[in-house]
Amino acid sequence: MTDHLTIVTHPLVQHKLTLMRDKATPTGDFRRLLREISQLLAYEVTRELPMTTKPIETPIEEMDAPVLAGKKLALISILRAGNGLLDGVLELIPGARVGFVGLYRDEETLQPVQYYFKVPDGLEDRLVIAVDPMLATGNSSVAAIDLLKKAGANNIRFLCLLAAPEGVARMREAHPDVPIVTAAVDKKLNAKGYIVPGLGDAGDRMFGTK
Ligand code: URA
Repeated sequence: MTDHLTIVTHPLVQHKLTLMRDKATPTGDFRRLLREISQLLAYEVTRELPMTTKPIETPIEEMDAPVLAGKKLALISILRAGNGLLDGVLELIPGARVGFVGLYRDEETLQPVQYYFKVPDGLEDRLVIAVDPMLATGNSSVAAIDLLKKAGANNIRFLCLLAAPEGVARMREAHPDVPIVTAAVDKKLNAKGYIVPGLGDAGDRMFGTK
């Protein structure tokens, strides 16, 4: 993947995103839509995976058939909202290895602080796809990618549902080697760090916590 930013403009993605943005959409529908969109986004983020072939026998004859090459890829959920994207992507790539990065924001320094980090072995040999629905300020995404690189990852992609221009710029500056795949880049962030027009707090909407 060579582009730093890919916006998936497919009509199904855009239609489902509109339903998710609507504040009248209830929690159950929001979760289902996120799972459906995550599969469509996963299709895009895995588009250029390396392939090889293996000999198989169809009922008709032998052939060298295409299969994914290399080690199983690693999906890394940035807690907690990342889990909403993770479920759908895992349905499409059931053999993927899974890791979790937990970060909270220190209210004094406003910097992300790590509270959980558990990732699969051999990150250096895997394609690593970090998932978080909302790329807002970019602070937690940049910190999560920092941690993944420290753990050995060198081939990372970032999958989100919605991005703010500020977050895209911050990621581009800190991690220009990490392509971003998203369904939309919205107008801006508001004073509270929410994406405008956005969809509100993705975690609260998917888990029904507000
Ligand atoms: N996180 C969210 O859940 N929503 C935003 O708009 C920004 C960050």
